[in-house]
Amino acid sequence: MDTRIAIIGTGMTHFGELWGVSPRQLASDAVSQAVVDAGLTKKDIQGIFVANMLSGMLGLQGHLGALFAEELGIQVPAYTVEGACASGGLALHTAMMSIASGKYDTVLVLGVEKMTDHSPEEVSSALMGAGSNEERLAGATFPGLYALLAKSHMQKFGTTERHLASVAVKNHFHASLNPKAQFQKSIPIETILKSPLVADPLKLLDCSPVTDGAAAVILQRKKTSTSSHCVEICASQIATDTLGLANRSSLLELRATRYAAHAAYIEAGITPKEIDIVELHDCFTIAEILAIEDCGFTEKGEAGKMIEKGMFTLGSAKRTVVNSSGGLKACGHPVGATGVKQIVELADQLRGRCGKRQVKHAHIGMAHNVGGSGATAVVHIVKSV
Ligand code: COA
Repeated sequence: MDTRIAIIGTGMTHFGELWGVSPRQLASDAVSQAVVDAGLTKKDIQGIFVANMLSGMLGLQGHLGALFAEELGIQVPAYTVEGACASGGLALHTAMMSIASGKYDTVLVLGVEKMTDHSPEEVSSALMGAGSNEERLAGATFPGLYALLAKSHMQKFGTTERHLASVAVKNHFHASLNPKAQFQKSIPIETILKSPLVADPLKLLDCSPVTDGAAAVILQRKKTSTSSHCVEICASQIATDTLGLANRSSLLELRATRYAAHAAYIEAGITPKEIDIVELHDCFTIAEILAIEDCGFTEKGEAGKMIEKGMFTLGSAKRTVVNSSGGLKACGHPVGATGVKQIVELADQLRGRCGKRQVKHAHIGMAHNVGGSGATAVVHIVKSV
């Protein structure tokens, strides 16, 4: 995109089991923080882009654009964007296009999801709305589908259960430093390896949890930016693949991730080596391993070994830190809100606001958001200016 677009405000709620809080309250909380952060009032917002996956299926509430416009007291054009767990990234991309088209100068991107009021069976079935018809008919769930990807990776590259568990160790450590994370504690590798099996080889502590939460960012056309400490989005790319795993030529990669990341590096004019922090879509531990490889941070088959050695961890000698927020695994995964929360984390890191989990000298960040088992991948690259 030729238009320069800045992130001028961020906000997010606590992530977790928020039984006493409604989606409206979650949205209001995240948006109020973002508006104050941007130094604006709600009246400055010209368009609202809501990211959500499950409200229609679980809460029987659709029409979220108008709903949140009403709740926020700003009757401006409002849109709902759905792309399974990549809804947040897609909403950000769509909001950017609305600015690039010349329609708006200042827009709000809001990700909201409320999952924990519903039974695990209802949530699992609703999530499978992102899978293929054949997968649903076969009774597959997302832990099962990612377990297939894990088995393929283990057979081809010798990836071990310990490598998978190392992802969870890293991300729970990062979340222990994040006051808004769902699980704010470090977990030893042996506890992860001994946790109950969900879908062989994935265990409870290889999975992202079921989460409530909201996140918001305010975007502004750069020339009218009011903030001197802003973060600019320098690449925004989307790729798609088949909905079901059966129609893929390889289970050793998520091809959409590779395409979107490659296009984003070209758009930003950088290589993976130049990136300081990455929020990757670690819905399961194998997903982070695949994403690190498919985004080009390691050779294929090497990510698990590198993570076990401590790479990509806050404070490690190697530069790039992966999932400083705790990722989906430990910060939590309110599916439609996740892609927006990734941008909140990057913008806050680039502005030096992350306290104990602050990545020193962070200048360039990347967000990678996936829908389903890789049918949609969205990659954004941001830099501090
Ligand atoms: N990571 C860490 N701890 C978790 C956890 C997770 N993913 N899920 C649950 N826990 C904890 C709970 O806090 C609880 O701890 P407590 O006993 O101290 O209170 C305990 O483990 C049991 O929780 P429970 O809610 O009974 O778990 P569950 O068996 O109903 O659900 C999963 C566990 C893994 C099946 C569920 O989290 C899940 O389906 N995750 C995947 C979600 C998904 O597919 N998202 C889309 C990805 S594409």
